[in-house]
Amino acid sequence: MSELSSLLHSGYHHPVQRKWFYEKAITKKDLMYPIFISDDPTAKKPIDSMPEQWGVDRLEEFLGPLVQKGLVSVIIFGVPENAAKDECGTPADDPNGPVIQSVKVIKKLFPQLHVTCDVCLCEYTNNGHCGIFYQDGTINNEKSVERLAEVALAYAKAGADCVAPSDMMDGRIIAIKKILYENGLSNRVSLMSYSAKFTSSFYGPFRDACDSAPTFGDRSAYQLPPQSRSLAFRALARDAREGADILMVKPGMLYLDIVRDAKNSHPEFPIAVYQISGEYATLYRASEAGVYNLKDAVLESINAMSRAGASIILTYFAPKLLDWLDN
Ligand code: PBG
Ligand code: ZN
Repeated sequence: MSELSSLLHSGYHHPVQRKWFYEKAITKKDLMYPIFISDDPTAKKPIDSMPEQWGVDRLEEFLGPLVQKGLVSVIIFGVPENAAKDECGTPADDPNGPVIQSVKVIKKLFPQLHVTCDVCLCEYTNNGHCGIFYQDGTINNEKSVERLAEVALAYAKAGADCVAPSDMMDGRIIAIKKILYENGLSNRVSLMSYSAKFTSSFYGPFRDACDSAPTFGDRSAYQLPPQSRSLAFRALARDAREGADILMVKPGMLYLDIVRDAKNSHPEFPIAVYQISGEYATLYRASEAGVYNLKDAVLESINAMSRAGASIILTYFAPKLLDWLDN
């Protein structure tokens, strides 16, 4: 022993002392639960490697027990199985579609529950892409942004507390902020931007469940390349400038360096991180195979996200975490 100051164990040998070193303890209030609403109002449909899909008529049965346990926030995804998908994603803001219908029902049943709507076109376009395309297969950014803003406005009017564009088109944050402002909604609807959203193989279970995989090409012309830190910096700064209230990094576990970059560069913003479908499936399947105990592994994963700088964690494990966390 060269130096007495080399002794670290003395500082954390006791459980009470260990906690004094924690960056921040995760609470139930830090969780946002992604939920999938079917266009069959009576559905309770199990999905492989994903949470169940529920119908609008069963939201009390679905969410009631979770709210009881301390769930404070959900993000809604629509799963339109019977809708007529087209190039512009027309079913996205169908007033009778699952998103608008479920926002209204949830706000009525649970007025205190914070409700975010994911805003994108890929669940509603016939080509499974997140925007509108020119004939030559490249993105028509202007038309895409116009359509996304229209959809976001419809969700805001239906009662959403927050809208969250996940499309990765350029300039959609300012377009949405502007349309909310022009419609007198900017004071009660916030804007969470999927800012640093990377191309990833870990979206697989989600795309299968929502039937939203692209029919041609991939999303690498708009989602960020995993190899790039610089584009993430630029996208985060751009969305902060354009009026986002919350900045998100996605996926989670493989991108915690980007979460830390986001927090360091934008300390004045809450940073969200999305533990996506493939991460959920991976943690689940590995625990089933005996690799580790699910509870320990999931808690470790979300504590790592928090330590990296995230204050909002979107995770399909939210129902389990409501049992595992004590406050
Ligand atoms: C749609 C969207 C996706 C996710 C959230 N919104 C999928 C994608 O971009 O392909 C990812 C959710 C997940 O994998 O859990 N734009
Ligand atoms: Zn999309």
